[in-house]
Amino acid sequence: MPALLSIGTFRRGRSSRYPTKGCDVLLSESAEVLAIDARGLVKVFGNNRAVDGVDLRVPAGMVYGVLGPNGAGKTTTIRLLATLLTLDGGSASVFGHDVTTEADAVRGRVSLTGQFASVDEDLSGTENLVLLARLLGFSRSAAAARAAELLAAFDLTEAAGRQVKTFSGGMRRRIDIAASIVVTPDLIFLDEPTTGLDPRSRNQVWDIIRALVGAGTTVLLTTQYLDEADKLADRIAVIDRGTVIAEGTPSELKASVGAGTLRVRVQDPRRRARAGEVLAGALGGRVEPDPDPSAVLVRLPAEIQADQAASRATAALADLAAAGVPIADFALGQPSLDEVFMALTGHPAEDGSDPEKGPAKKSPAKNSPEKEDAA
Ligand SMILES: Nc1ncnc2c1ncn2[C@@H]1O[C@H](COP(=O)(O)OP(=O)(O)OP(=O)(O)O)[C@@H](O)[C@H]1O
Ligand SMILES: [Mg+2]
Repeated sequence: MPALLSIGTFRRGRSSRYPTKGCDVLLSESAEVLAIDARGLVKVFGNNRAVDGVDLRVPAGMVYGVLGPNGAGKTTTIRLLATLLTLDGGSASVFGHDVTTEADAVRGRVSLTGQFASVDEDLSGTENLVLLARLLGFSRSAAAARAAELLAAFDLTEAAGRQVKTFSGGMRRRIDIAASIVVTPDLIFLDEPTTGLDPRSRNQVWDIIRALVGAGTTVLLTTQYLDEADKLADRIAVIDRGTVIAEGTPSELKASVGAGTLRVRVQDPRRRARAGEVLAGALGGRVEPDPDPSAVLVRLPAEIQADQAASRATAALADLAAAGVPIADFALGQPSLDEVFMALTGHPAEDGSDPEKGPAKKSPAKNSPEKEDAA
């Protein structure tokens, strides 16, 4: 797949992608176009406030990351915004269209690729895309051409004739995204598009996301991986227990938990305490417990920016050598999503349970459409 893949664009017949003066929404000359403007979103399932006052403002034309642990309310939030669920409170508009009163207009602008996708497993890749294109009003030849274009862009041409149920996880994720951009949406919701994928497949999906933004689509991406949001997202909202607990650029979020950790294993465990003193002194950080008797773990202080972490760590290791403490190995760790969570919430990301809300673990039925709104 080429570095910047070409996905082509087929937009529905509109002269302009965004509402403008004289259209259905009035914007002042300087107003920022908001792909999503959500205020105080609430969704309640039984006694579980799955979404509990979410505010989101997503400018058009960017990748916006929504981070959160299992059960945080990410999928529910995007289903509300994509009009697949009805709001129990708050309000939201997509490109100026209210999700409750103008749901059809919203649906005309958005596309959703879910954690569990919608292509027909028994059909081939080509058959799925041609069928969708025909349903969307393409002529027979235009449908075939669009299917071929997308399959080529997503590196699926060879597999195109095979039933989708024979696809690997990465191929499956790519055909799901292809299916959701037969007509290029103005806003696409990608719900954990890379969960469970190997590094190569993740990279392919990242290329697709970059190409989508390059083609003018706003992307709202949910993920549990900080590194993914870091690489792709212009801004990130961190959601926990149905509420946005932090919002900002990736570097703003990471800065809130410092630059990470330096872990050094010394050759002689008896020198561990000395190594801790030298490293903590050099870095201005604090030593944290490490179960390995030869290892010293130092948390870098928040003043050290992520891009300075490597050079500061190198200098600290030189101090250690100068102090006559031989090193076995070392590793510089970036702040993880868990650390961001610990810093923001005081509880680990995995610990989603809350006695007042019940377990945050997902219920098996939560993604079956027929169960939506049932609770
Ligand atoms: N249709 C439903 N009926 C009842 N409860 C639901 C339903 N959908 C979601 N929930 C509950 O709402 C909460 C939020 O779920 P949601 O799927 O939005 O989380 P998530 O952030 O997408 O999690 P994950 O990372 O596991 O996908 C969870 O407690 C979940 O069990
Ligand atoms: Mg989800």
